[in-house]
Amino acid sequence: MRFRLPVLPRRVSRRSLGLLFVLFVLLLAAVVVLAQSPEDVPDPTVEPVAFNHKTHVDKGIDCLYCHSNAPRGQVASVPSVEKCIGCHQVVTPQDPNAAREVEKVRKAWEMGVPLRWEKKFDQPDFVYFSHRPHIQANVACEECHGDVGSTDMPEPGYNVNMGFCLDCHRQQAPEKVAKLTDCATCHK
Ligand code: HEC
Ligand code: HEC
Ligand code: HEC
Ligand code: HEC
Ligand code: HEC
Repeated sequence: MRFRLPVLPRRVSRRSLGLLFVLFVLLLAAVVVLAQSPEDVPDPTVEPVAFNHKTHVDKGIDCLYCHSNAPRGQVASVPSVEKCIGCHQVVTPQDPNAAREVEKVRKAWEMGVPLRWEKKFDQPDFVYFSHRPHIQANVACEECHGDVGSTDMPEPGYNVNMGFCLDCHRQQAPEKVAKLTDCATCHK
């Protein structure tokens, strides 16, 4: 079978063109309105997203995929909204409450604002800590943060005290212990 172009009327009246134009504008308006709803999505700059570690770790997402700065730097870093959107442009949970949280992520993305996180692990400024030497020495995240993968969020301040740091540093290779327990290593 050969493909045939549809037969178009030779003359399209001005009136029907006008009508088409009006319809087009209405359609556009509807699309814009629909894109802006649902209006019940809370403002992500005010209400933080209820992020759940367990859901994500259970799906096999590596800690370092999200906290990618840990091997390189002092801070582990919290992922940007871009990283979340990489999945959540398409991934929508079935559970309505979970889906509402994901809507907040999308809204933050549309608004071009970062997500709001409350820092939980925070050390006093007179302590020097860096993730880098620990990740390089293969110290697991869980040694210091607990079993993050089985909770929604790690416990605030879990294990962050001098005795805890020193206990582990004393167990390192004998030639390293002097440096690792030297006050100046952690108090610059
Ligand atoms: C040796 C202990 C230790 C290990 C191992 C460790 N952390 Fe941390 N982490 C800390 C401490 C201490 C802080 C608080 C740092 C501060 O307040 O300056 C922290 C802070 C953080 C933070 C919040 C602040 C930031 O740095 O962005 C994240 C996220 C984090 N760690 C993730 C991880 C991940 C992921 C791993 C494994 C790849 C890991 N950590 C391994 C001790 C550790
Ligand atoms: C590699 C893919 C991936 C990335 C990256 C990702 N997510 Fe998810 N997320 C998922 C999957 C899969 C689910 C589970 C969906 C379901 O329940 O069907 C989920 C569920 C959720 C939920 C619903 C509540 C829950 O935990 O069940 C929220 C909220 C959420 N993600 C927020 C985030 C945020 C915020 C980020 C960025 C910091 C992020 N996600 C990054 C894949 C991802
Ligand atoms: C899908 C991305 C994602 C994955 C995978 C992930 N995290 Fe997180 N993590 C986050 C986000 C987002 C926050 C900030 C959430 C908040 O404050 O409510 C966070 C916060 C943390 C914090 C607390 C930071 C602070 O002080 O406020 C620690 C510690 C942490 N993650 C460790 C881990 C560890 C260990 C793993 C692997 C077992 C892991 N994370 C896997 C996204 C992720
Ligand atoms: C579970 C074990 C463990 C814990 C807990 C731990 N560390 Fe470490 N730390 C190590 C290892 C292993 C190294 C790397 C030693 C090496 O091979 O050079 C290291 C190295 C360091 C270094 C770099 C030392 C240098 O050579 O310059 C600093 C700084 C440091 N740790 C601070 C801390 C602080 C602060 C804490 C507590 C918040 C802490 N560590 C908790 C195991 C640990
Ligand atoms: C491996 C890292 C590490 C080393 C080595 C270390 N400290 Fe600390 N220190 C910490 C951390 C982490 C804190 C903050 C948490 C706390 O209050 O326990 C701290 C807190 C302190 C504080 C404040 C305590 C308080 O109750 O407010 C003093 C004082 C102190 N250290 C002195 C020292 C002296 C002196 C040395 C050397 C003999 C030393 N530290 C070696 C990690 C270290």
